[in-house]
Amino acid sequence: MRRPHFLSVVEGRAANTGEPFPAFAAHKRGNMTKLTAQEIVDLNKEYTFFSWSAQGALKPIPVTHAEGVYFYDANGKRYLDFASQLVNTNVGHQHPKVVKAIQDQAAQLTFASPSAATEPRGLLGKKLAEITPGDLKKTFFTLGGAEANENAIKIARFYTGRNKILARYRSYHGATHGALAMTGDYRRLPAEPAMPGVVHFLDPYCYRCPFGWTKETCHRECIKHVEEVIQYEGPDQIAAIIMEGVTGTNGLIIPPDDYWPRLREICDRYGILLISDEVMSGWGRTGEWFAVDNWNVTPDIITTAKGITSGYVPLGAVIVREKIAKYFDDHVLYAGLTYNGHALACAAALATIEAYEEDKIFENAKTVGKHLGERLEGLKKAHPSVGDVRYIGMFSGIELVKNRETKEPMDYTPLKNFLVENCVYVFGFKNVLFVVPPLTITEEQLDEGLNMIDEGLSELMDKQIV
Ligand SMILES: Cc1ncc(COP(=O)(O)O)c(C=O)c1O
Repeated sequence: MRRPHFLSVVEGRAANTGEPFPAFAAHKRGNMTKLTAQEIVDLNKEYTFFSWSAQGALKPIPVTHAEGVYFYDANGKRYLDFASQLVNTNVGHQHPKVVKAIQDQAAQLTFASPSAATEPRGLLGKKLAEITPGDLKKTFFTLGGAEANENAIKIARFYTGRNKILARYRSYHGATHGALAMTGDYRRLPAEPAMPGVVHFLDPYCYRCPFGWTKETCHRECIKHVEEVIQYEGPDQIAAIIMEGVTGTNGLIIPPDDYWPRLREICDRYGILLISDEVMSGWGRTGEWFAVDNWNVTPDIITTAKGITSGYVPLGAVIVREKIAKYFDDHVLYAGLTYNGHALACAAALATIEAYEEDKIFENAKTVGKHLGERLEGLKKAHPSVGDVRYIGMFSGIELVKNRETKEPMDYTPLKNFLVENCVYVFGFKNVLFVVPPLTITEEQLDEGLNMIDEGLSELMDKQIV
């Protein structure tokens, strides 16, 4: 028997303080919008497209407001956000400092031409130089992650005078044509031929080692393989290697500890630029500013978005090392966007970063992340449908299998549906369920969601074992 769920309580109070939301004082509970829940859904479906889906059968949640680790729908249902929306609301929902900074900046100057100098843009550029590793120094601002990657490869091509880009198969770099060409997963195929010059290589995916090794027998064929691909493709034709700091969407793949450092050496040997895509893995998700900080590596370029503003205002960034920045002192940077350096977005980013530091949010990601790891190991022990669990900081995934011997993947959709019905909002990919809540989550809140996952695994997934 399913126990009564505890999260779908109609709430009008802040989870932490118990104070009524100001918005609830103005609007009666469940009446946050002029339209009904059904009207909101119908309008959205009739007049707007949703991502990566055949549109007909979609059932979007009509979201009205949010606070901390929870968000609410137009029926007054409260959801625990175990996905940080799209792995971006790292600071939690509606952080007062960030909301206030946006309000203040909006009152003063929302936008100035990308050719103008503004205070938030300059201060944010300086801050990024301080928090990124090594001599990463100068930033080109974009609107999001895909645009950041598009501009990073242009910069790499201009700087090196070379054309080819190496990327991994199990990767996602964005939905614009160039970013999709670098993306390795199934979403690239319908867009091909997207952008010439991209070559893919295999991943350091230890649970399903593409070279057939186990952790005990491994001798880093995955690293040797990269060098072999470089030799075949012509080292002097390769501008850059792009990799996610820790692979996100494609299954939460954490590389062995020497992987990033040894790829750094290989890139140096051949004059190839190393790009770390930190769109998802940055901003404390792994407990550090950027995932590469876990291995003390300085990439030549970091691309990022998402957690830079926690999604409050769209913003992306391409941050380059000093030598690359200097090159463009007397070479034209053939890149431009109307919203390069958007004042409102830069102010939101500055406030988000301040909140990360002042509230010690990454420390929380590390300490609560330790508890998360222990709980995930417990789920693996208890449930035969869990083949592997992977976690670093507050970045974690549960890989579902029908059989632990054959590792046949088990689709995560039934578990996702169960969790959403029970008001735990999750994100996943094929047979991997992610646990990626806001970094501000408490152990208690984390346990609420993990207990529901535990229940869903018993009720639905373990029964599919073959
Ligand atoms: C690693 C990575 N790179 C790039 C992107 C694309 O970012 P955006 O959707 O902001 O264009 C994403 C989005 O999820 C991502 O996870």
